[in-house]
This record gives sequence, structure tokens and C-alpha cells, in this order.
Amino acid sequence: MKIGTYYYPEQWPREQWERDFDRIVSMGLRVVHMAEFAWFDLEPSPGQFNFGWLEECVEMAAKRKLDVILCTPTAAPPVWLSDEFPEILGKSDGVADDRHGGRRHYSPTSPRMQEASMRIVQAMADKFGDHPAVVGWQIDNELGHGFDQSEHTHKAFRQWLQKKYGTIEGLNKAWGNQFWNQYYTTFDQILMPADRSPIYRNPHHNLDASRFWSRAWADFVKLQADILKPKIGDRWITTNFMPFFHDCDPNDMRDSLSLWSWDTYPISGLGKNPPGESFRLPDPAGVECVHDHMASFNGRWALMEVQPGQINWSGVPTLPYPGAIRLLLWNAISHGAEFITVYRFRQPRFGTEMWHDGLVQLDGTTPSPGGLQFRQVAEEVRRIFGDAPEQLPTNPQPRAGLVIDFDQLWWCATLPQAKSWNQQELICQWHQALSRMGFKVVILHPDQPWPEDLKTVVVPAMQLIDPANLSRFNEYVQAGGHLVLTPRTALQDRTGQFFEGRRGSAISELIGGEVEAYDSLPDGVKGIVDIDSKHFEWNIWADLLFAAPGTKVWAKYGDMFYAGATAVTHVKRGNGSVTYCGVFAGRDFAEAIIERLCTAEGLGCKPLPDGVRVIQRGNLRVATNFTERPATLDVPAGTTFVLGGRTLDPAGVAVWRE
Ligand code: GAL
Repeated sequence: MKIGTYYYPEQWPREQWERDFDRIVSMGLRVVHMAEFAWFDLEPSPGQFNFGWLEECVEMAAKRKLDVILCTPTAAPPVWLSDEFPEILGKSDGVADDRHGGRRHYSPTSPRMQEASMRIVQAMADKFGDHPAVVGWQIDNELGHGFDQSEHTHKAFRQWLQKKYGTIEGLNKAWGNQFWNQYYTTFDQILMPADRSPIYRNPHHNLDASRFWSRAWADFVKLQADILKPKIGDRWITTNFMPFFHDCDPNDMRDSLSLWSWDTYPISGLGKNPPGESFRLPDPAGVECVHDHMASFNGRWALMEVQPGQINWSGVPTLPYPGAIRLLLWNAISHGAEFITVYRFRQPRFGTEMWHDGLVQLDGTTPSPGGLQFRQVAEEVRRIFGDAPEQLPTNPQPRAGLVIDFDQLWWCATLPQAKSWNQQELICQWHQALSRMGFKVVILHPDQPWPEDLKTVVVPAMQLIDPANLSRFNEYVQAGGHLVLTPRTALQDRTGQFFEGRRGSAISELIGGEVEAYDSLPDGVKGIVDIDSKHFEWNIWADLLFAAPGTKVWAKYGDMFYAGATAVTHVKRGNGSVTYCGVFAGRDFAEAIIERLCTAEGLGCKPLPDGVRVIQRGNLRVATNFTERPATLDVPAGTTFVLGGRTLDPAGVAVWRE
């Protein structure tokens, strides 16, 4: 476990480099990340490489025993490329919207962009591929760009569709083109949609566009990974994802990546309301869910970027709560991050992000408040982990599964039906409900088998479903698993078309009930749902259920003309059970359901204090407190802490060995 930083030597005078590397080391950091966005500095004109400066910096890092991460610089194409080949620029709705002067101004399907990318990546791989200080490679930066309208993208989309459907009749059928007479007669007539907006567009077309677009980014990554692989031995390859970002399904990049990583900036002042000063702290539900998502591919993951303090881009540059950055780092460590690097070491003096904090302030040497927290964690990590291999757990934490399926994210972005439906929030609220009961959450992908030890699996709104998904549900409960389903499950096939039959009939046998109707409320109107004589509020979606004989009713609606109608059911199936939670309410409601399930089925879990997480890493348990209140841990007497203690400070951390 190592902590490190992004460093952009090309943005600073040559005479400061040695000092900066010394400072990086003196702050306890052990990894340095370079070359991201540096395409022009590395290749000032086509095919003429200037690697001297980077070589010098890699040597400076090596001399100080720092691990080096190199980045392919393709997120910032140089002016000579777009000047000679404007086709590389992405377009929105037929207009060249991208131009030189920012970043990410390219289309991944542009043949000229691909050619130029392959040249720079090949040259970097030849030069640095086997350098002993280099430990891994990041491809590009935060891949994505709204649906491109360039001719080469339309063409690539058509080819992808042709391969998928074979005939235009097949496509017409899958897209329901009988509706509004949208028939095509050849693939050449089809365009990439302008965006995912649902109004008046064909949702099946949009769904395929999202799938294709994610594949287009995956192909762009593969182009680079295939060049790197023969040159870099067993060093890892990653790309840094944004959380739940619709342009890229990380699952599409399995062929290319050997480590998954993401960027977290959870204290942005956006999307959070009081109580108190909680907006100065990260929302653990979102952050932890993405950690576990990254860990779900092959177990190797890293936090590639993390905010060091205040950020520049949200418009609400909130000052983080004291200790919040350390909290973020320790929480990522508890989830098994292989390393963490911060964006960025020095606060820039110029450019778009000049208001973005670094680990050191504008004088280039004085640590920022976040820098001090990084230094502290780097010391703690060195003390607790050392360089010895990590130990296995003696008493593994119980695990629960949670499905993330990009088809559902895309579909709900395209055709939400209820405008407040937020698939991401639905996933995160169940993640929180499971974590609060002390489960370690394993993210599951729709196309893969589920590990056998999962005590419960939550499948949030798998609206589009195929027979293999349904068989997995059945096999899991037969074998003793406790399955939790939510509203909008199994309504449509994977093209997005409704099944013929009563709504929800694909699962009515499994859930022991029927979905009679559904409701959704206007903004500001709250409905009531009751469980265990506690009231909870809902607004977004409520299935009115009919429970078949033998099915237990766990929750009922408390008001509206259908007061008393069933909201949540639970039924024994095989050696396990199925809980159908028909209402998309708040996080507290999801927590109540999971707590009840744990009690009813004897899953042996107890709720943690609000906002507190306890996660096992090897033989360590790490507790993190995401609130501004102290909390007390329920640990056995005689527990010896290696960090903190039984009482967690606000934003506090505790670590103990089993
Ligand atoms: C990230 C991006 C970084 C930097 C950072 C600023 O999304 O990858 O390059 O721009 O935001 O917060």
C-alpha cells in the first residue's frame, strides 16, 4: 500500500524539479505520476520526440526510490494535430464544437486521432516500457465525450449495428421501428443520436448508441493497451474512470486493463444539503460503491485521483471538514486500494485549474491542510503496512452482493418514465444499507456468475433482463441465498421492449406476488410507507403489490387512496428467500429493509452507528466516521488499536488487528 501524487514537471521551471522531488519524498509519498496531458512537450511536431525532460524526471524519481506511473498523453491532443486534421475534433449535432484550447477535444473513432495516438504511445513504450522505476501505465484521462456527430462515428456506429443485427429487418424489429413508422431500409441511413435525451427519440436506438459509444472508448483504450503490453512486462495498465459515467462502462475494458482506477472529488458543495456541516464531508454511499465497483473486475484497483482540498470546478468551493481528506484516504485503503495518488502535488499558478488545491501551496513548498493530512496518512500507512505482504483475514467479514448493470443506467437516462428516477442513487442507497449492517459489498456484473458466499444479493431495478439473469436469481435462492429485488425489475427484454403479459409476470412466481399498479408523486409531495410501525417517506416510485398466499407482507402504504396496499413482500424460496421492495424511498427505508432481512433470516449482522463504516482489509479492520459527531465502536474488550480507539472522532479513523 503506497501513497503518491501526480506531478507535472513540464509546468514548472527546470531548476525546481530536484526540490519538488525532494519535497515529495519528505512528505512520505512513494509514487509519482507523470506525463498526463504532456503530448506537445513530448512530441512538439509530428514524429519528432522530445523525451529528454521526462527521462530526467524519471531518473530523479528513481534516484529517490519513487515508483513512477506514466500516463499516455492522449487526453490533450497537440495543436499541430487538430490544425492539420480537424476531423479529430469531436462534433455535437453536426457543428464542430471542439477546438484547441481545452482538453478531451477529440473523437475516439477518428482514424487520424488513432494513428497519432498509436505513434506517441509506441514511442513512449519503446523508451520507458522496461524502465525499472516505472510500475504501471494510465491510458489517457477520464475517457468520454458526449455522442460524437462526426461522419467517422456515424460510420462506426453503423458497422457495429450491422454486426449486431445482421439485417436491417432485425434492427427494425429490435428498435420497434413500426412505432411512428421509423423503419430504415439500409444501415447507411442511421445516425448516432445527438444525445441521450428521451424526448421524441427512439429509446431502443439510444440504448444501442450508449452501448456502442462505450465500446468505442474501450476500443480506443485497447489500441493503446495492445501497444504497451509487449513492451511493459508485468506492469499494470489502467485508465482513470469517473464514477458511474455513462460514456464508459468499465466492464467493457476487461480485455485491456489489468487494474481499475477512478477519481474522487466528493466534497464539491454540490448535491448536498445540511444537516449541519455534513456538506464538508464525503457521502460514503457514493464513494464506497465506486471503490467496490473498481475492485469487482479482478480485485486490483487504485484511487487514481483524490481531492487534496478545495477544488475549482463546482462553483461551490467548500472548505473540507478537518480530517476529511484523511478519512477519504483511509476509507479507500480499507476497501483494498493498491495505491492512492492525489491530483495534484503543486497548486498551479496558471490555467483553468489555478484555484485547485495541491498538496503544497503556491510557494511550492508549504503543505496545504490537505497536504498535511496526506503526510500523516503516508506515515500511518508506512507504519501499519510496512513492505511485508499483507496478511489474510482470520475471520472474514460477511459479504453481500450488489448488481451494477450499465444497460439499466443507460436505459433510465434515456427513458426514465419518472423524471426523478435516479438509478445511480438507487444503487448507492442499497450499498449504504448493506454497508451499515456491516457487510462487505461485492459488486456483481450482469454477465457473470455470483460467488457462493454472498449472504444476500440486491439487484437494483434490473428492468431489462434476459433468461440467464432470471436463472441466476433462481439458482441463487435455491442454494440458500437471500435475494432482494426492487421496483422496475424484469419488465423488458434487453432490447428494451416490454414483455407481453401482465406487468412483472416474469418474476411473479419468484416473488410470490404481483405488481398491480404503480404510482409516482409530484415534486414536493411525499407518500408514506410503514414498516415495523415506523413511517418512511417516498416520492419517486411505488409499486402496489398483491401478495400471493404464503407470501409475507413486510411494509404497507400509509396514505393515499390505496392506504393499506402492500409495498414490500418477503417469501421463502428454495433454501433462501426473495424480498421484493416495491418502493423507491429514501436511504433510511432501504436500511430498514436490510435490517429486517438480517433479523428475519438470521444473517448475524448488527447495524453500525450512522455514517460509520467498518471494512476488513487482510487482518486489519478499518473504521471510518463520515459524520461530524463522535461515534463509539462496538469492538470486543481488549481490542488493540493500531490507530485511533473505540471512540471515533468526527471524520475520524480507527484501525485494529483481528
Ligand atoms: C479530474 C481530472 C483532473 C483534474 C481534476 C480537477 O476530473 O481528471 O485532470 O482536472 O478533475 O478536480
